[in-house]
Amino acid sequence: MTEQNNKTQSVSIKPRRMAFDTDAPMRRYTFDDNSLISTFFYALSAMFPDGERFFIHSVRHFQKDIDDPVLQAQIKGFIGQEAHHGHSHESLNRAIGNMGFPMAGLVEHMQKRVAFLKRAFGPDRQLALTAAMEHFTAALAEYLLKYPEILDKTDDTIRKMLIWHAVEEIEHKAVAFDVYRQKVNNEFMRKRVMVIAMISLFARIGYYQFRLLKADGHFPRWREWTGAWRFFWGKQGILRENIRSLRKYFRTGFHPMDIDQQALIEHWQERHPDVAALQTQ
Ligand SMILES: [Fe+2]
Ligand SMILES: [Fe+2]
Repeated sequence: MTEQNNKTQSVSIKPRRMAFDTDAPMRRYTFDDNSLISTFFYALSAMFPDGERFFIHSVRHFQKDIDDPVLQAQIKGFIGQEAHHGHSHESLNRAIGNMGFPMAGLVEHMQKRVAFLKRAFGPDRQLALTAAMEHFTAALAEYLLKYPEILDKTDDTIRKMLIWHAVEEIEHKAVAFDVYRQKVNNEFMRKRVMVIAMISLFARIGYYQFRLLKADGHFPRWREWTGAWRFFWGKQGILRENIRSLRKYFRTGFHPMDIDQQALIEHWQERHPDVAALQTQ
């Protein structure tokens, strides 16, 4: 049995219930009226509920075989957090759908994909996929917590939800990975699945964005293309930074705790008091 990384042992994972106001009016294109950036977040939000339930499913399969009480407690925290994320994003997806976007159709599309993955992938590969996706979400989370001012351009509910989600993604980033290490521990599969996961993730995001824009009959203006280019690929661009982090995943022996993101979530309540104020439990 491979041991958990030492730093993981000290992480306690706490699911938080939040009261987001998803009934508050939102701009059609929440991010700075930029349809290309906004639909990137809408596409992710459409994937979250069923994607995160899939993560839970893949970890649960191995849960009964985990003897380590610390990892057991972390698995419970992970399941609680991902379940809350799913519910919150479902409410947000309804709000985005109420503006006329085909969110229900995208969610249905995602559900079919998840059902396919459960049929086609064995438990080992499902868990490798979850570990890969958790690395991607932790990298995205790191970006949003490092540059939270970027979210000032979005509507308040989305900004708050993404900050809370980001904190918890970093908190539980190593759980699926540690289960994978203890129960599967196949480095080749881990890396190969990451390649497949990223190709299909970005293809899906692009396809969902296309569907959202097409349904709205909106062709982005020049200002949106240049803004999106800066946002994704410019200096400090979200994807440019994400790729740097993805590369680390391919190092043999890599562990998520090798990337120190803890400073970003320590005292997050003081740094984001308006988000912390929404915690009900
Ligand atoms: Fe999540
Ligand atoms: Fe997660």
